[in-house]
Amino acid sequence: MSTAPDREAPAAYPIEALLRRRWSPRSFTGEAVSPAALQSLLEAARWAASCNNGQPWHFVIARREAEPAAFAGLLATLSPNNQDWARQAGVLMIAVARLAFAANGKPNRHALYDTGAAAAQMALQAGALGLGMHQMAGFDADRARAACGIPEGFEPVAAIAIGHVGPAEALPEALAEREVAPRQRRPQAEWAFFGGWQG
Ligand SMILES: Cc1cc2nc3c(=O)[nH]c(=O)nc-3n(C[C@H](O)[C@H](O)[C@H](O)COP(=O)(O)O)c2cc1C
Repeated sequence: MSTAPDREAPAAYPIEALLRRRWSPRSFTGEAVSPAALQSLLEAARWAASCNNGQPWHFVIARREAEPAAFAGLLATLSPNNQDWARQAGVLMIAVARLAFAANGKPNRHALYDTGAAAAQMALQAGALGLGMHQMAGFDADRARAACGIPEGFEPVAAIAIGHVGPAEALPEALAEREVAPRQRRPQAEWAFFGGWQG
């Protein structure tokens, strides 16, 4: 049996190994994520920077083995394409942003930005622990709100699958091809504008 593919980013300039190693796998083995690893993942999110240190992020977590009903509930909120592979993850999450500052109730224009930053830190920690993390826009936010009991004022932002990464060949053919396709990025010159907007 082959192992997970090496998906190291072909970075054009030097970046840390942790950043090069992060990618979004779809092949998960179904193996459980240990409680210690889960704590580390959440701790990495906890130490993200945020506007006014407002820490607007929340994560609703369902472990495949420990909370099977919640896991099935979260899985059902995903788009069919995402369900196809995410069902083998060890953990599913919904990242949720509190849209107003807890301290004064004023709207937090950066709540989604900060929640994304926390998730990004979690993804890097996952890579450091030898786990895979895959974020998803393909989920039904209203269903997630109902399934998880997310109150008004809190926005379901993204779904997340985390687990031990399996071989590409374990996926259906179309997904297996995407799992090993070359990783691509726009060149810096297209979006890094020195001295003012260009374009
Ligand atoms: C906010 C967000 C939403 C995403 N939604 C999906 C999704 O619904 N399904 C999916 O397969 N991948 C999804 N992805 C993964 C992206 O397709 C992936 O990050 C991108 O292709 C770059 O690949 P890499 O993460 O392996 O570098 C999402 C990623 C992010 C950050």
